[in-house]
Amino acid sequence: MLERLETLRSDALKQIEGTTASEALKQIENQTVGKKGEITQILRSIGSLDPEMRPQVGQRANEVRQELETALEARLSLIEAQELAKSLEEGQIDVTLPGRAAPTGRLHPSTQFLREMYDIWADMGFQVYRSREVEDDDTNFTLLNIPPHHPARDMWDTFHTTEEGVILRTHTSPGQIRAMREYAPDPIRVILPGMCYRYEQITARSEIQFHQVEGLAVGHNIRMTDLIGTMTECARRLYGAQRKVRFRASHFPFTEPSMEVDVECSICDGEGCNVCKYTGWLEIAGAGMVHPVVLKNGGYDPREFSGFAFGMGPERMIMLRHSIEDIRYFWGNDLRFLEQF
Ligand code: FA5
Repeated sequence: MLERLETLRSDALKQIEGTTASEALKQIENQTVGKKGEITQILRSIGSLDPEMRPQVGQRANEVRQELETALEARLSLIEAQELAKSLEEGQIDVTLPGRAAPTGRLHPSTQFLREMYDIWADMGFQVYRSREVEDDDTNFTLLNIPPHHPARDMWDTFHTTEEGVILRTHTSPGQIRAMREYAPDPIRVILPGMCYRYEQITARSEIQFHQVEGLAVGHNIRMTDLIGTMTECARRLYGAQRKVRFRASHFPFTEPSMEVDVECSICDGEGCNVCKYTGWLEIAGAGMVHPVVLKNGGYDPREFSGFAFGMGPERMIMLRHSIEDIRYFWGNDLRFLEQF
């Protein structure tokens, strides 16, 4: 047995010395010191030897295993170094090149902007309320003081579904009714962000789907000055403290009085440019005091409660901020556009 060990040792050492590839080395390892290797088998068969031979063979087998393992390890390091040197020489890897950044996804510019809005309004005590995108005609129009056949319905070209009276919401305002009905008679301070749909001609400023962020505050003593104050704060946080804000009389059936909110054009600093159509001002929202009929439909007594509401268009607001000249970029899935944010 001792003889067999010695032959095994010298043969293996010779083989290791002559090997130039790591796979061949692995094979020698398996055949000698591996789980099914010859030395392992010798060690396992010691029990069947003469009792006097056992310690001698055991000791020698362990020594040979140790020696072979050391030789295998040393040879492997050498081979690996040679392999690396060879591949560097062949120029397949230039270790001085900077690594390639793995492509990662990012948030859509509208999502980023919406999150900014949530922070601004959260600081003023407004929480996010999610309302449905598929609405019924009543909530989208009638309960907002726009009865069937009222000419004001023409302001919102509607996508109808095959189900009678079921539509895609044309604005986030129906969420006002849903929030009021859930909270009444408690006071409310919510913003309602989400996608809206209009069956409109697509142009550089108008899409058939776009976000709105609705705002609604209902309480015991809510006044027009509260609306003006919060809208001014929002505009300043978005466009800078020096930016002027103006409120212009307007009309919406669900608010009385109604107005539109303009911000001094951030592209020309109010001087006049093609984006603001040379007026120096850009509209960011429709707003007003919640109409008594709407308060009533929401479950509040208009003699006791008052409220304000507004509806902003995030895509148009992002366009202003970054001088984006066409709204179609938002849903065009062009990475050259999206990767800029
Ligand atoms: C409304 O939709 C009202 N519901 C807003 C409102 C809410 C008024 C609460 C009073 C109280 P308007 O149709 O103007 O109003 O739309 C509001 C904003 O949505 C616009 O200022 C604009 O920024 C954005 N918007 C409207 N139509 C489009 C469109 N086709 N594409 C992109 N943005 C749009």
